[in-house]
Amino acid sequence: MNQKCGVGKTTTAVNLGHALALLGKKVTLLDMDPQGHIAISLGLKNDQGGLDRVLLKGESFDDYLMPARDNLDVVCAGNNLTDFERLALGGSSRGYRLRRAIEASTLMACDFVLIDCPASSGLLGINAIFAADELLIPVSDDYLSLQGLSRIMQILKRSESVLGHSIRLWIVSTRMQLRRRLTAEVRLKILKYFPGRVLKTVIKENAVLAACPSLGKSVFEYEEMVTCAEDYQSLAQDLLDGRTG
Ligand SMILES: Nc1ncnc2c1ncn2[C@@H]1O[C@H](COP(=O)(O)OP(=O)(O)O)[C@@H](O)[C@H]1O
Ligand SMILES: [Mg+2]
Repeated sequence: MNQKCGVGKTTTAVNLGHALALLGKKVTLLDMDPQGHIAISLGLKNDQGGLDRVLLKGESFDDYLMPARDNLDVVCAGNNLTDFERLALGGSSRGYRLRRAIEASTLMACDFVLIDCPASSGLLGINAIFAADELLIPVSDDYLSLQGLSRIMQILKRSESVLGHSIRLWIVSTRMQLRRRLTAEVRLKILKYFPGRVLKTVIKENAVLAACPSLGKSVFEYEEMVTCAEDYQSLAQDLLDGRTG
């Protein structure tokens, strides 16, 4: 999650998800962004329904699990997920629909359920936070993406007080251009303000990561082994080991 667009949320969900699956973990990716980019990124179609039906109609996740790769399933956004943001009825229970649906499904048997969030902080984002044990925030190397981070911290604090428990926070540096001075400055700032919460691995800017969605492939399926695949492999290991920078 990050309210800024283009920081690498979807790229991270897809490639971290596949990295964990390749390590033998059972993973499901949930596309909570109505744009439906998770399906496209993995060469799947987004027109069979998915989270829209689960959240709006109360249908079961188990009917919408699409096998994407070994150990990796996807639940697509579906065509009508934006309608959920406009949902007026249902009072405070509206925030818990995703959590309840996960609890009633076979997703509980997964090692990881990764939720790709939209850039807005509406009902979809709240449902994601209320369902999550951990929050992973991609921060790219610009100040506006840091700004997104401070807004999420406010939402997280409020959510934790409603939920009555804390949610573990991880920050991941994405789209890093190591030759830019600003990159080092942003990294130092987040390390200073979020000690012990910034994952060790830095995801570098790499044109291959931008090309992969058009091929419907994760970075691990690219024609040659590339350094950005190593970045996501190492990020997966950081998460498993709790390694921070
Ligand atoms: N590390 C990276 N290097 C190069 N391009 C990237 C990288 N991460 C993401 N991109 C590209 O940047 C754009 C935005 O990334 P995306 O993951 O869709 O961001 P978000 O989901 O936060 O809006 C996409 O075109 C994506 O392919
Ligand atoms: Mg996205």
